[in-house]
Amino acid sequence: MKIFLDSANVDEVREAVTWGILDGITTNPASVAAQRDQSLEEILSEFVGLTDGPISAQVVAESWEEMIEQGINLAKIAPNILVKIPAGMAGFQAMRRLSELDISTHCTLVFNPVQALLAAKAGATFVSPFVGRLDANGQSGMEVVGQIVTIFDNYGFESEIMVASIKHPMHVIEAAVQGADACTMPFELLKGLADHPLTEAMKDRFMRDWKKRK
Ligand code: E4P
Repeated sequence: MKIFLDSANVDEVREAVTWGILDGITTNPASVAAQRDQSLEEILSEFVGLTDGPISAQVVAESWEEMIEQGINLAKIAPNILVKIPAGMAGFQAMRRLSELDISTHCTLVFNPVQALLAAKAGATFVSPFVGRLDANGQSGMEVVGQIVTIFDNYGFESEIMVASIKHPMHVIEAAVQGADACTMPFELLKGLADHPLTEAMKDRFMRDWKKRK
């Protein structure tokens, strides 16, 4: 399963790429807006110097024509930029046109399996169900992920399922068990996946025993 960092923060990306387990980066308008002194283009230019993996950059347009225009401009920054586009008919139109131009797209804000099906038909490279926000809405995010996995398998869609809006490690474990292709998550959550209290306790115990050797 591919692991993506969901961040527009250059320091976080610079550190995360050193861990050797990162496959790519996702950004969104909120994370980019939080970097007050940098534009999206400046952030992406730094990111492409740090990784060859896919970097998703979201359009902020309403019409499919404007989404295409923004997408073409974002894709010009580097070959590993993916154009992130919200689900919806305008979004699917833009994904189809961009994929005909050989520009990779990432369908975001997927909340039901039919949206994922339409995104796959529109040629999206990645499709992102938002599990945390579904759970918070009283629905099962992981049930939606499982349904998308089945649908994509049934029809041989090549789009990859990137589980998004991940809020805790169980989301990552369940996504992997369901057979999702990728997960994207914030920096602290990703960093925390490496740890377990028993690992720490046992490391301490081994060190104590080691120091007692004659
Ligand atoms: C993924 O690409 C999204 O940017 C991200 O997972 C957003 O989720 P959140 O708004 O629930 O944090």
